[in-house]
Amino acid sequence: MNKIMKAVTVAASASLLLSLGACGSGRSATSSSEAKDAKDMTIGLSMPTKSLERWNKDGANLKSKLEKAGYKVILSYADNKTSQQTSDIENMANKGADIIVVAAIDGTAVGPAVEKAKDTGSEIIAYDRLIMNTEAVDYYATFDLEKVGALQGQYIIDKLGLKDGKKGPFNIEVFSGSPDDNNAKLFFKGAWDLLQPYFKSGVLVSPSKHGGGVTANFSLDKWQSIGVQNWDAAKAQTDMESILDSSYAHSEPLAAVLTPNDAIAVGVVNALGTKRPDLKAGTANWPILTGQDCDAPNVTQIAQGKQAMSVFKDVNKLADAVYDMVTTLAKGEKVTDATGKYNNGKLDVPTKLLTPVIVNKDNLDLLKTSGFYSAADFDKLVG
Ligand code: GAL
Repeated sequence: MNKIMKAVTVAASASLLLSLGACGSGRSATSSSEAKDAKDMTIGLSMPTKSLERWNKDGANLKSKLEKAGYKVILSYADNKTSQQTSDIENMANKGADIIVVAAIDGTAVGPAVEKAKDTGSEIIAYDRLIMNTEAVDYYATFDLEKVGALQGQYIIDKLGLKDGKKGPFNIEVFSGSPDDNNAKLFFKGAWDLLQPYFKSGVLVSPSKHGGGVTANFSLDKWQSIGVQNWDAAKAQTDMESILDSSYAHSEPLAAVLTPNDAIAVGVVNALGTKRPDLKAGTANWPILTGQDCDAPNVTQIAQGKQAMSVFKDVNKLADAVYDMVTTLAKGEKVTDATGKYNNGKLDVPTKLLTPVIVNKDNLDLLKTSGFYSAADFDKLVG
């Protein structure tokens, strides 16, 4: 039984005893609908790293929202070290966290830690990244993962005019995200489902041997071979530089690069700068680059024509979704609006799915009007 339910049981038995004692009044004392007051609850927030901008926003957002409501919050960042995230979660459980929200570095490696926390009575919410191969996950909140990839793939298709019958062949290079991140597989699936038919028809070709070579028959289960560990921009730059050295050293055209998040897009832009100075951002010979997270450097890249688009995942909305889950659980109630589900290898985890949207040069100010960036910060980024 989890800590919250224990509180409900105690409250209910206390009120039952009271009502029995006061049975003469005919009115039974009702137990409070709030199983535990916020001030009596501790919420753990386990974030993967500070080195990727978005997680700083996620952690700060959720912490301030919960503290404003009176919850005690333990916020930890694990520096992309799975051993650190394990001890962060154990520490939260030892400090009596009623609910632990986890954005996993490695969805499988974090399993034992969440199982131990669950055993002490904590409820577990997977945040943005699914916790895999364990039943110790109560809920999941994320943006529609395959949709993120589909928006990236469709953007390339639309910008190259493939639906309008353009035959190419167009050179494209393809990256996926961190091999230990279950999200990365689903982002890639969303994009590859749309792009693969154009590889099959020969309209899209990938000249390099990146990941052993992405051909028409490249299968989804090989997604990790084109991955970038920890979504690291420097690693992406190194990989892209070797791609450019091996297959684009004689002014070969490059129509697009599937870059699944903004950090990887930064790495690819840097590689283009070092290896192909003949390509000019904002001109027809500059490749279409995708992304997600609308990180600050990428808002500037989009404004400068270096990156065609990013997928906006408003972490304020994700924080709201998780906050609602926490307050519902605090009442000892079940979350009923987690109507989506993702199977984590052990069970279908009830999931709140949020909608990602495309941001490009034409609607960049959505990042200001949504409050994702302050007007002052936004104006600095777009210059
Ligand atoms: C993913 C996350 C994305 C992406 C990446 C880098 O799991 O869903 O927003 O940016 O991690 O943190």
